[in-house]
Amino acid sequence: MVGHFITFEGGEGAGKTSILKALEKSLVIDGYDVITTREPGGIEIAEKIRDVILNPTHTSMDARTEALLYAAARRQHLVEKVLPALEKGKIVLCDRFIDSSLAYQGYARGLGMDEVYQINEFAIEGFMPEITLFFDIKPEIGLKRIAKNKDREQNRLDLEQLKFHEKVHEAYQKLAIKFPERIYRVNANQTMDVVEKNVYNLIVNFLKAKAD
Ligand code: TMP
Repeated sequence: MVGHFITFEGGEGAGKTSILKALEKSLVIDGYDVITTREPGGIEIAEKIRDVILNPTHTSMDARTEALLYAAARRQHLVEKVLPALEKGKIVLCDRFIDSSLAYQGYARGLGMDEVYQINEFAIEGFMPEITLFFDIKPEIGLKRIAKNKDREQNRLDLEQLKFHEKVHEAYQKLAIKFPERIYRVNANQTMDVVEKNVYNLIVNFLKAKAD
């Protein structure tokens, strides 16, 4: 039996990480075999690459270097963690995947979504999520949320101006239009309880449909 690969996407402060953890709990209670993971990171080598990419002192990092490092972390994480879990029939909930690179490096950094897709294709060899949730929130609201969250470590990309985050948001909207069969928009500008419930219903319906 093969599992299911589900990815969570969105700008900063959209709440996707908290919702991902809540969804994991609910699915485990329902008896599903679930793991959660994140990009960049999720395994030792990719967490080390994450430290290099997101270190706030690495201000001289070139945009293409950044894109290549995300793709490298993605490759290692995919082969070392995601694919083996799927082969065991697990549901893998992953905080970010290729759409983040398309939105942040391809569109907001201006490298081009097609160009960034090409280097990622080398890393993922056509492997894509079955379903992607796009947590949609206005960047200024998301950034206000993360400013209030004292536990959150500030990373190099958080230091970008509002304009950059607006471009990220625009890119996700374009991606949602381009891949309507894969990307589901979640209104993240609601209370966490409501978002959590919506996401749970969406995923359970998806899993039931797949089981039929
Ligand atoms: P997060 O763990 O808070 O989501 O932080 C990861 C940061 O890295 C976030 O600012 C989004 C960014 N990112 C990219 O720019 N490209 C990528 O491919 C991925 C996975 C993340």
